[in-house]
Amino acid sequence: MTLSSRPVWQHPWVFILAAAGSAVGLGNLWKFPYIVGENGGGAFILVYLVCITLMGLPILFAEAFVGQRAQANPVSAVGQLASASKRSPRWAGIGALGMITGALILSFYSVVAGWSLDYIWSSASGVLAAIQPDDSAAIFTSLTANPERLLLWHTVFMLTTLAIVGFGVQRGLGNATKVLMPLLFLMLIGLFVYACTQGAMAKSFAFLFEFNTEKLTPYSIAEAVGHAFFTLSIGMGAIMAYGAYLPNTIPIARTVLAIAVIDTLVALTAGLVIFATVFSYEGMSPSSGPGLLFIALPVAMGALPYSEVITTLFFGLVAIAALSSAISLLEPATAWFVETRGWSRWRTVLALGALIWALGIASALSLNYWSEVKLMGLAILDLLDKLTTLILLPVGGLLTAIFVGWRLPIAWLERALIDEPAWLVRGLIILLRWVAPLLLLGSMVYQINDFIQ
Ligand code: PHE
Repeated sequence: MTLSSRPVWQHPWVFILAAAGSAVGLGNLWKFPYIVGENGGGAFILVYLVCITLMGLPILFAEAFVGQRAQANPVSAVGQLASASKRSPRWAGIGALGMITGALILSFYSVVAGWSLDYIWSSASGVLAAIQPDDSAAIFTSLTANPERLLLWHTVFMLTTLAIVGFGVQRGLGNATKVLMPLLFLMLIGLFVYACTQGAMAKSFAFLFEFNTEKLTPYSIAEAVGHAFFTLSIGMGAIMAYGAYLPNTIPIARTVLAIAVIDTLVALTAGLVIFATVFSYEGMSPSSGPGLLFIALPVAMGALPYSEVITTLFFGLVAIAALSSAISLLEPATAWFVETRGWSRWRTVLALGALIWALGIASALSLNYWSEVKLMGLAILDLLDKLTTLILLPVGGLLTAIFVGWRLPIAWLERALIDEPAWLVRGLIILLRWVAPLLLLGSMVYQINDFIQ
């Protein structure tokens, strides 16, 4: 494809929405609350917020910068910048690693997104009306125990993702996000206000924001680091791929800041609402694992007037948030095949989609038939989740920070930051060159050490 015919976002705002759409997803609504619960609350959040600020922000910026400057898919983008600055072409491996990571994540992400589709169905049919904690837990368990239902929704979700990516991210996605993202935010705010009046909000606040560092373990630190990458969609090239559709003239630093802030606010709000529910019922525990969102929120919403409508709408929005993230998991590899192999978008998404869908089946079955199949003590879905979040994304992020911070001319970065105040330019560059890589390396060494012992 020639440079002039490359697609671009209709407006910089669409980039912000699309990137925020990529960032805000199951990571915020499903994963964040349950891993916070499992890791004991406040202390974990403290580490997480530090990671977002000190590593997430600079790496998010670095990825958007690479994509925007090179105007190409992640593999070609890193390759081009490496060759323009006389560095080894092997740096392009960052892009290749990212494509694989994205495919692995999408395979299990789609299964979990399928849960939200199933919940749209059950809430619309009234099964969840006025539901109590025990029944809610039983409904969730019966879903994950049912391979046919899991596979059906996994398939529906994958097909929808493929259709949008097939049509082209700008056309398919630009319009959808403009309406749906604000709707999701409004709904979360509504639930938050409701939870403030009805739920145990004070307890929820205390659980999330009492920073008691005694609860920190090496493992919880690794989870916080990994989740910071997962939730911001960094470490695998999604933001590079989106940045590539952003014209070179648009300043990106503030944009990136906005994305991180939106993402964090959504996660914290979801956490507050969910724990306010958990603490206001007997028999619900913050550490109830991956079912937390699906068990707690139907109980909270089931007590409301018009609960069917509200619950259906809510899970609809969860599904949409998941969808706008899923497409960004597929876009880097799709763009690479289209731009360098000359495949059509449709052919590419069908081929990649079939592979990822097949891999997803293993994750779906690992919740029932294959629950005994374990590698390193983990069932397949867990294993893929841990492998990508705890290892592949942080490694991708570390390589990106080193490449952009140390292997490219600093003047390029400064040019991209030309409209920003001096403190922000200096701050971002120091974070990218020193703070992020050293913290990441430090946490990796700490983990490996802990693992060996
Ligand atoms: N950020 C997304 C979420 O929080 C998941 C994601 C990870 C998307 C990596 C793209 C790349 O749900």
